[in-house]
Amino acid sequence: MNNKFSGVDTIGNIVVNFPKAIETFKEYNIDFCCGGHRPIAEALKEQNLNESTVLDRLNQEYESFKDSYTSDIDWRTASYSQLIDYVVQKHHTYLQNELPVLGQLVSKILRVHGEHHVELAKVHKLFNSLRTELEAHLIKEEEVLFPKIKQYEKDPSPELLDKVLRTITELEEEHTGAGDVLKELRRITEQYQTPADGCTTYGLTYQKLYELESDLFHHIHMENNILFPRLQALKGAHTH
Ligand SMILES: [Fe+2]
Ligand SMILES: [Fe+2]
Repeated sequence: MNNKFSGVDTIGNIVVNFPKAIETFKEYNIDFCCGGHRPIAEALKEQNLNESTVLDRLNQEYESFKDSYTSDIDWRTASYSQLIDYVVQKHHTYLQNELPVLGQLVSKILRVHGEHHVELAKVHKLFNSLRTELEAHLIKEEEVLFPKIKQYEKDPSPELLDKVLRTITELEEEHTGAGDVLKELRRITEQYQTPADGCTTYGLTYQKLYELESDLFHHIHMENNILFPRLQALKGAHTH
């Protein structure tokens, strides 16, 4: 097994590459929000945790996540068009269907439970800012980046690659922004736990927010760790 993570990787970098690591970090009480810039080895030492035990576990989890997710198609060698069409059909369609539904649910639970659960105003605000950002983000990918990549696939040129790579940098920053909002949502909702006095709609909303997080993690993984690096690796391919 080729180990993905080692002790020198920062906590933040591990989460960007493998968002599910958040679950493991929480279990070990490792601060991935404010302490994210530190190398993982440092945080483990501080908590008196065995470095190789935790890293082995993270690497194993990453491998099975990668395997279960990539299933029968090897995305490292699939065509760009195939990869893009998959992301759009699976993840963009999911967001286009679910964001409006969640918008209504989040408003509804604020209306019914907002008085006794003050955090719901924050959930409403965070969700809606995430929604607005994601809607513009999807448009940028579908209208700007993805058509350029498909064009590059047919007719590669250094100018076009340049444009593609610049857009990728912007989109990566937007992914980090979305990830930050998700972290905050997870914190505010105490890991999407419905309170004892929450109604069915409350539970459904939290369940759907949890699914949103999970789908976005996979979505961003496909773009940040598979599609984008394949194009970034071409940098310099046009110089002789
Ligand atoms: Fe996307
Ligand atoms: Fe994206």
